[in-house]
Amino acid sequence: MSRSSRVAAGLRLDGEPRFAWRGVMLDVARRFRPVAELERFVELLAAHGVNVLQLHLTDDQGWRFEVRAYPRLAEIGGRRSQTQLGHGPRATLDGVPHAGFYTQDELRGLVRYAAARGVRIVPEIDVPGHAQAILAAYPEFGIGGAEAVRARVAEPWPRFGISDEVLNVEEATLEFVGTVFDELCEVFASPLPGDAVVGIGGDEVRKDRWRADPRTQELMASRGIGDEEELQSWFLARIADRLRANGCRVVGWDEMLEGGDPAPDAVVASWRGPVGAELGARLGHDVVLCPDLWTYFDYRQSDVPEEPIPVGTVLSLEDVATFDPVPPSAPDVFARHVLGVQANVWTEHLDTRERLDYAVFPRLGAFAEVAWNGGPLDWPDLERRLPAYLDWLEGAGVDFRPLAGPRPEQQRPGVPGVPRERADRLAELGRLTANL
Ligand code: ACM
Repeated sequence: MSRSSRVAAGLRLDGEPRFAWRGVMLDVARRFRPVAELERFVELLAAHGVNVLQLHLTDDQGWRFEVRAYPRLAEIGGRRSQTQLGHGPRATLDGVPHAGFYTQDELRGLVRYAAARGVRIVPEIDVPGHAQAILAAYPEFGIGGAEAVRARVAEPWPRFGISDEVLNVEEATLEFVGTVFDELCEVFASPLPGDAVVGIGGDEVRKDRWRADPRTQELMASRGIGDEEELQSWFLARIADRLRANGCRVVGWDEMLEGGDPAPDAVVASWRGPVGAELGARLGHDVVLCPDLWTYFDYRQSDVPEEPIPVGTVLSLEDVATFDPVPPSAPDVFARHVLGVQANVWTEHLDTRERLDYAVFPRLGAFAEVAWNGGPLDWPDLERRLPAYLDWLEGAGVDFRPLAGPRPEQQRPGVPGVPRERADRLAELGRLTANL
């Protein structure tokens, strides 16, 4: 295939890109996708000028990375008996087992495949929260001792949301996590020039178990750690130090700054509005902007009732085009530290390749132009070019969302969602980031 036929038609992706990090994060923890599908996805990202694929390999609902030192992570942590269907109080369970993990050899192949197309894979293992799949496999690393954890955690979580299971902070647990990251760092070494980057998560750590556990409190006191937010930073700092010794730099979600700065060289991925990015920039970090209101491709694309399992706020193609990563009013220090932008694709409700396509395309087209040229875009100009772009998607076999709304087979009648309003979400983001 010639280079030009691999570039998506209708998009303006010429000259030098505005941002060095033009990323997409794909959640393969909640929904395992076979390697061949990841290769196809990489091919599509490359055609949009995207050069980073962050693979979210672990979460409460599943573990997808073969770890040679700890085989049960993939064998036990990679399998759940069923999965939540829909969102909110009317959600049910589907009764369908879900399983899968990537071998290290498969992942090495994927890294090479992506590098040949100019895409760096940034693997993410999410700690110390979102830990239920880990604890299903190795309960000794949870709070209260192995017996107690085994009684609470039978398997990776079939439900969605944030489990309150967290890792304990014993030295043995830090060593376990360190060993896992040693293997991760080695497997994902990329032939591309530039820093090797590894995701350590750090988001949405529920701290109730740390707070209530006498042993955790004892360890905190003996280490001179004042509160659980500081403990989270301490934990992430230990991992970042270990990875740095392996030649890997870390990227973490903006919560990583809640209890102090765990790693001065870390990339901060700011998803809860600009607050984390502004703080990260002031502290001298490179920051990647992925504010949910503009870049979360699991969010609903319209407020028509046919929209499948509507969650989040409305994020239409035109809304994506309004994304202005570095507005003129942004302080200089912020502008200097923005490494790039990233769209995040959480897959609770995207259980097939077709549904993934529906969520990602054509919104990725607008995002790709923002990543390449800066934003916001000139919407009438993009709108004129859309027919060529949609034709290209059609020709590439992409099951995109038609501009007029979902086709019948793209709808999920009767499966409940929880749509959110922008004002409510903005208020929530204000509360969530008040401690930054
Ligand atoms: C996130 O959306 N929990 C990063």
